[in-house]
Amino acid sequence: MVNKINKINKIIKRKNKSKIVCLTAYSKNIAEVIDNHTDIVLVGDSLGSVLYNYNTTRKVNLKMMIEHTKSVKAGIKKSLLVIDLPYNTYRNKFEALKNSKKAIKETKCDAVKIEGGTNVSNIVSHLVNNKVPVLGHIGITPQTVKGKFKSKGKTEKEKKKLIQDALALERSGAFGIVLECVYSDISKQITNLIKIPTIGIGASVHCDGQVLVTDDVLGLTNAKIRFVKKYVNIKRLINSAVLKFKQEVKSGKYPTKKYSY
Ligand code: KIV
Repeated sequence: MVNKINKINKIIKRKNKSKIVCLTAYSKNIAEVIDNHTDIVLVGDSLGSVLYNYNTTRKVNLKMMIEHTKSVKAGIKKSLLVIDLPYNTYRNKFEALKNSKKAIKETKCDAVKIEGGTNVSNIVSHLVNNKVPVLGHIGITPQTVKGKFKSKGKTEKEKKKLIQDALALERSGAFGIVLECVYSDISKQITNLIKIPTIGIGASVHCDGQVLVTDDVLGLTNAKIRFVKKYVNIKRLINSAVLKFKQEVKSGKYPTKKYSY
């Protein structure tokens, strides 16, 4: 618990000092590599679309999230480990606390992330009062989005709502807020307004940190989203390794004596 609180306090203190690096992970092998460079590792319910090919994150359940988070935990040494509470697991404060406690107990993760602003502020307060650290998530909230994903904060009404949501989460005790697909000017305004860090995804350089889906960063997905920067094309590397394996198997070059008993 003390270690968890220390990690969270360190992250909060980074505001206005140095940027917070956050990436998703769904399994141990990736977690092990990214943990060297991340402050926060998020087991996002994006795993529904990225790994399971679901058309909505609503199909992800708590059991799946727990199993993936256990795997990720095995690869984490230093980053703060956050689990997404999936859809329909925090419909009221009692359900949220029961499921958060179960997730934390079974996975040994440090915190939960839930989507929503003023509508979940009583849930956030209840979790925080019961020693469950919470990362908020506003802007596009995929669990409840209706229709197409559209950036938020263009109209005055949307701007006002985002500010109200951010303030409500801060007041409720969230230790940070993910801003997803939020226009730059409003991300900047929110980041300057609140004392907890903002972590942007498609929300401009003005946020206190950035998060991306690791599979997008590595080029494992076919994501063509404006904010996604592919830092490597891993699919190409996998393809050439597998091609070489195939050729060596067919020609009898593999396995040589070195690889045999
Ligand atoms: O589910 C997820 O991976 C997320 C991040 C993209 C912020 O919520």
